[in-house]
Amino acid sequence: MPDIIGLLASPILEGNTAVLLDRTLQGAHDAGCTTELIPLVSLDFQACQEIYYCKDHETCIFIDDMTQMYPKFAAMHGLVVAAPVMNMAVPGPLKTFIDRFQVFFTAKYFRKQPLVSQELRGKRKGLFLAISGTDRPDVFTGSRLTMKSFFDVLDCAYHDEFLVPGMDRIRDISSRPDLLDAAYQKGFTLGTLLAQGTPYLSPGIDQTTAAPQ
Ligand SMILES: Cc1cc2nc3c(=O)[nH]c(=O)nc-3n(C[C@H](O)[C@H](O)[C@H](O)COP(=O)(O)O)c2cc1C
Repeated sequence: MPDIIGLLASPILEGNTAVLLDRTLQGAHDAGCTTELIPLVSLDFQACQEIYYCKDHETCIFIDDMTQMYPKFAAMHGLVVAAPVMNMAVPGPLKTFIDRFQVFFTAKYFRKQPLVSQELRGKRKGLFLAISGTDRPDVFTGSRLTMKSFFDVLDCAYHDEFLVPGMDRIRDISSRPDLLDAAYQKGFTLGTLLAQGTPYLSPGIDQTTAAPQ
C-alpha cells in the first residue's frame, strides 16, 4: 500500500484548510493508500542555521522533531501539503520546515546521492492544497513557487494542486460541498495513480484552480 503524508500547515486543527486536507486524505485512503496526518503545530523544530553539516552527513546537526521527519519523508510515496496563504506566501512554520530539508538538497545536488531510493524517484507524487482570504489573481504565486521547490528537493513530482481563493466570502468551507467533493477527487486520483505505480504525467495543473462562487 502506498503511504501518503498529509502535512497540515494551518495552526487551526479544525479550520478550513484542515477540512480540505481531511477530504483529500479520505479520497486517497479510499483509493487504497495509507495516510498519515502531520499537523505542523505538533512539531518542535528550529530554523536552518546554514551550518551545512548536511553537506557531509545524511541528517541535520540539530536533533529535534525534524530528525524523525527525514526518514519518513524519504520513504513516503505521496505527499499532500495544505496551507493557507499568509502574506502572499506559505505560513512561516511551513517555510521553516521546508528550509530544514536542505538535508535532502545537499544529498541530491552536492553529493549526487539522493536520500530517496531510485525505485521511488519518478513515482512519488505530491499535491498542493491552498486557500486564501482574498481573490487576488496572484495570491497563490508565492506559495506555489515555494512548494514546487520543496517537491523538487524531495524528488516528488508536483502532480497537481487545488487552490481555493475567496475564503473571506466563503467563510466556512463546509458550506461548499462542491469544493469538498473536488478535494476528495484530487485525493482519490492521487491515491489511484500511486496505487497503480503510474510514472509522473502532468495533468495540466493550471486548469485546476477552483473558481469561487
Ligand atoms: C497572518 C495571516 C496572513 C494572511 N495573509 C493573507 C494574504 O496575504 N492573502 C490572502 O488572500 N489571505 C491572507 N490571509 C487569510 C487566510 O489565508 C485565510 O483566512 C484562510 O482561510 C485561513 O485558513 P485556516 O483558517 O484554515 O488557517 C492571512 C491570514 C493570516 C492569519
